[in-house]
Amino acid sequence: MLDWEIIYEDWVPEEQPLREALCTLGNGYFATRGAFEEAEADEKVHYPGTYLGGGYNRAISEVAGKQVENEDLVNWPNWLPLTFRHAGGNWFSLEKVELVKFYQELDMQEGVLRRDIHFRDVEGRETRLVSRRFVSMANPHVAAQVWELTPLNWSGEIEVRTALDGRVTNSGVARYRSLEREHLEPIGADQYDEESIYLLVQTKQSKVRMAQAARTVVVADGKKQEVERHSRAENNYVEQVLKITCSQNQPIGVEKVVLIYTSRDFAISEPLQEALRNIERIVNFEHLLSASSRAWKRMWKRCDLELTCNKEAQSVLRLHVFHLLQTVSPNSIGRDVGVPARGLHGEAYRGHIFWDELFIFPYLNLRLPDLTRALLMYRYRRLPEARYAALEAGYRGAMFPWQSGSNGREESQIVHLNPKSGRWIPDNTFLQRHINAAIAYNVWQYYQATHDKEFLTFYGAELIFEIAQFWSTIAIFSQEKGRYEIRNVVGPDEYHTEYPGSTSPGLNNNAYTNVMAVWVIQCALQVIETIDQSRTEELMNKCSISTDDVERWQHISQRMYVPFIGESDIIAQFEGYEALQEFPWEAYKEKYGEAMRLDRILESENKDVNAYKASKQADVMMLFYLFSSEELLQLFTRLGYNFNTESIPDNVAYYESRTSHGSTLSKIVHSWVLARTDRKRSWVNFEIALMSDVEDVQGGTTPEGIHLGAMAGTVDLIQRCYTGLEIRDDVLWFNPVLPEELGCLNFQIRYRSHWLSLQIMQEKMIITLDRGWTKDVQIGMDGKVYTFNTGDHKEFNIKR
Ligand code: BGC
Repeated sequence: MLDWEIIYEDWVPEEQPLREALCTLGNGYFATRGAFEEAEADEKVHYPGTYLGGGYNRAISEVAGKQVENEDLVNWPNWLPLTFRHAGGNWFSLEKVELVKFYQELDMQEGVLRRDIHFRDVEGRETRLVSRRFVSMANPHVAAQVWELTPLNWSGEIEVRTALDGRVTNSGVARYRSLEREHLEPIGADQYDEESIYLLVQTKQSKVRMAQAARTVVVADGKKQEVERHSRAENNYVEQVLKITCSQNQPIGVEKVVLIYTSRDFAISEPLQEALRNIERIVNFEHLLSASSRAWKRMWKRCDLELTCNKEAQSVLRLHVFHLLQTVSPNSIGRDVGVPARGLHGEAYRGHIFWDELFIFPYLNLRLPDLTRALLMYRYRRLPEARYAALEAGYRGAMFPWQSGSNGREESQIVHLNPKSGRWIPDNTFLQRHINAAIAYNVWQYYQATHDKEFLTFYGAELIFEIAQFWSTIAIFSQEKGRYEIRNVVGPDEYHTEYPGSTSPGLNNNAYTNVMAVWVIQCALQVIETIDQSRTEELMNKCSISTDDVERWQHISQRMYVPFIGESDIIAQFEGYEALQEFPWEAYKEKYGEAMRLDRILESENKDVNAYKASKQADVMMLFYLFSSEELLQLFTRLGYNFNTESIPDNVAYYESRTSHGSTLSKIVHSWVLARTDRKRSWVNFEIALMSDVEDVQGGTTPEGIHLGAMAGTVDLIQRCYTGLEIRDDVLWFNPVLPEELGCLNFQIRYRSHWLSLQIMQEKMIITLDRGWTKDVQIGMDGKVYTFNTGDHKEFNIKR
């Protein structure tokens, strides 16, 4: 990896699925995996996939004798196909030629994927092929690629085939392949004009339409060439074959520009009309590319983190920002999309939206707050569904689903396949009610970063009130404990979904869930004090929240039960945790490495992970990730617990030795909680999190989609954790503790309508407020608060 590029200098077929995921190009509207133009999906090496933000479809499959309905992020028609053959020969395929040279480069600065190969075919003909591709950040409907073919030792006629292929299925994840995979039905495919073809499809159940139009032209010596063309269209496939005469050492350019419109778009009449109307307007590849790279440059200016002293971390962090912005970007605003946990890069988790936003939004809040606002609106629009879910389950308020897709109903699967044992297992992870706390937390964090009073008043407050109301009705007063408790839930650690030997799912009093419930309720009480009284009254009326309800909130926020292990200061992950068996870590680590999916391993050995003190990921630790020790102390004191914050390192050590890091989110949290007490170990954890996707540490999961929570989480570790950035009492505090390995750091943030430039070195920090809005901001360092006005520039010494 270089500063701005990932480079592959050899062709390794087994690595191709991972490279395809990592070389995905997208623009926050749609994304396409980095598959070769000439390749077809073969379920082993090549898997071209194109995914649209919010482009879901439902289908019924038979699983273990039962009919189950799943909602999938659809693999849309492949717009890539471009290939060639010599007259009478086979279509080009990398597998059928001898490679003399292979070079592939992902240029993250401009958002371009390049390939430069030199090959010899069975007839001894040598050809150089240079290809470039981009998905436009400037115009979300545009994608384009160009092939430059140079005959090195031959001349003659070739045929170039350009196509739009709607025969694709959702087959990217091996363990889902026994489920229904066909989501598209054809509507139309044909030639449009001399140079253009089109395809129109729609999803079978959700009836989302997508039109693709492709214009292919041949260029030699900088001039467009007239060539003979033949088009052929089938049901959901259309191609054009171009006859080209080539001369030795004379490069031939083939440019394919594609326009994509869907029925989910705004400002359109009908997708096909728009695609065809606009395909006539395009200039050429270079013109479109220039607009897209300029858009990328503008985005990088706002979103980059410059780590001049650590090249490796620098390039991987850029890769993370790059993929985050390809999944959600200003192009996503207004499209009613959320952030799929695995990006628009593959089909894992069916493109569903989980709590991973908790790890993603903090970075976006301080860079593209408008985008976070739009992503929060995805939740707001699904409030009615969440209210209904709460009602159905016997609660009040709003209960958001653990996995969300199109309309906000629960999309978690009810059974999942353990690929290790081949068995279908009941899946009770949907009981992760803590997703609700994450949504409220995200609203409040957004408000803290932006002070967007209109959003809080008209949308955010309603979300927080409804979620607080949910927590206050799922919490039941236990006479025995003299406290409120929350029963039958699952915490972030998905290994524990029930008590060993129990016949019903769920655990009681997951500490993280209970504390978060209190935090949400306390936040709701604060919102009542923050927004206009008349608006509070309106919302209380709208949400049917009475003064008695608010009184109950007060009571719960002082009397929630939190389990501890025995008489110690160690917070128990859930009630009854201490009765579980210790897990033989050494033996399993030796066999399976550090990042293990113990649930699958043990199930295949006919054992139950629920029986052990073994976590998949950070659970109790989440509390130390989200809250400072002062905030935790305040929460526990309000609850009447005598929690000693000095015991936090003991809590960290206790769970660190009992976690298998079976989720890429886990190392983020561990790195974060160690940052202040053990910088070295924090950095080691950071480096593992950093390499999660680049090295596919979970052994085969990245090819099915990147892990956006871990990607954004690593960036946020640099942005907030190591800089000590915290918004408290309307002051933006800094307390940098840069690990030595990090050296120095430059970046910009957007804070409450101001752009701030930050230069942080080991001993010094420089803060510059861009010239802009005149309202001042309060910035805190070393316990002192400074007022910054527009254009101000201040230097601070860092005490070590
Ligand atoms: C993790 C969840 C996460 C999900 C999607 C799971 O493996 O346990 O915490 O939300 O992946 O990334």
